[in-house]
Amino acid sequence: MSEQKIQAPKGVSEYVPERSKSFEFVRNALIEPAKRAGYQLIELPVFEDTELFRRGVGESTDVVSKEMYTFEDRGGRSITLRPEGTAGVMRAVIEHGLDRGQLPVKLWYAGQFFRAERPQAGRFRQFYQVGIEAIGLDDPAIDAEVIAIADAGFKSLGLSKYRLEITSLGDLASRAAHRVELSKFIETLDLDEATAERAKLNPLRLFDDKREEMKEAMLGAPLLMDYLNEESLQHFKSVMKYLDQMEIAYVLNSRMVRGLDYYTGTTFEFVHELLGAQSGIGGGGRYDGLMQALGGQALSGIGFGLGIDRVLLAAEAEGIISQESFVSDLYIIPLGDTAKEMALKIAKDLRSAGKTVEIAFGDRGLKGSMKAADKTGASYVVVLGESELESSVVELKRMKTGESSSVKIASLLQYL
Ligand code: HAM
Repeated sequence: MSEQKIQAPKGVSEYVPERSKSFEFVRNALIEPAKRAGYQLIELPVFEDTELFRRGVGESTDVVSKEMYTFEDRGGRSITLRPEGTAGVMRAVIEHGLDRGQLPVKLWYAGQFFRAERPQAGRFRQFYQVGIEAIGLDDPAIDAEVIAIADAGFKSLGLSKYRLEITSLGDLASRAAHRVELSKFIETLDLDEATAERAKLNPLRLFDDKREEMKEAMLGAPLLMDYLNEESLQHFKSVMKYLDQMEIAYVLNSRMVRGLDYYTGTTFEFVHELLGAQSGIGGGGRYDGLMQALGGQALSGIGFGLGIDRVLLAAEAEGIISQESFVSDLYIIPLGDTAKEMALKIAKDLRSAGKTVEIAFGDRGLKGSMKAADKTGASYVVVLGESELESSVVELKRMKTGESSSVKIASLLQYL
């Protein structure tokens, strides 16, 4: 009797060939603009002390109250698989004293994140993000640059059917003033116990309620945008001015509430038009109280997280990921043992010159190997037989057209 097959846990996103090539392409495209703007890599653990997310992300959020993968490790410590990246980055910045040097500290990261959400199209329990954080200055030009970096990643992929929504959640003083009025408004609503409890922890959360009756009830709620003090308003106006100058289009959405509690000031989301319910391809904003809440000094910060899984879905929906750009330059078919030695040597040299080269292994014979070459979609193919070894000249065949030309092995690089 054969054993039962084991399957991946429910709701995880995983990428196997061929699609993994597209995933890699998207991830690199999203990282590239951050590198070009001087952001440096930070690699962090995927699990952290649970307290980090309780304090960093906030108890009123779905992420912390319902979606964390939390467990006790063998030493009895409460550990949580990271649901997002910002809290961990702040923890590490404080722990390593990165904030004691030149400011802003500019970091990028990419990897897996975990939220026990109900899986659906574009919503996974393990998903991938590329993120950046700029810590230590509250210059509005940084806000604009951070947004521009995310936008550049999307544009470099050729995405066009998305929009950028922005708002300001104000500084602590503006938020306090708004909170008083919003809480008064909420008291006039007839709420169930759980919702009332959430509203107590963070009344802004009610703007995020997906139930129709709640959406309607909140239509008359006071908006934070109308409570921004002079400083917050000026900051936000400067951000918009810089975005205009960079010709980055945006729409104001004064009802935007992000799913994490640490946001202050400039907040933004990128929404893709072809993705249905899970349309957020990236989001971020300022988090001016976070570092202090985690035991560090009172430094501001801003960043974003872009959902690689969803950006890939968006690129596929727009039909802009072509498999062709990922194929090998050359496929070598060696016939016989001496040819194999030669193939390994040629491949090694061409690869070190930057070419992508594959070899047909396994002595499948010419016909089988040609079939394999065809499948890989390689641009060129060469067969190495006895006569080729003797003459050091090969027939370089262009797979698309079938044309071939005689090329000296030593000059292969020039022809690829
Ligand atoms: P977030 O909005 O929670 O922000 O997540 C950022 C992006 O990750 C979302 O826009 C979405 O594309 C993707 N994402 C989130 N949850 C899922 C899921 N369950 N399945 C697939 N994709 C998902 C943050 O995480 C903040 N740390 C971003 C940030 C950095 N803010 C400031 N700095």
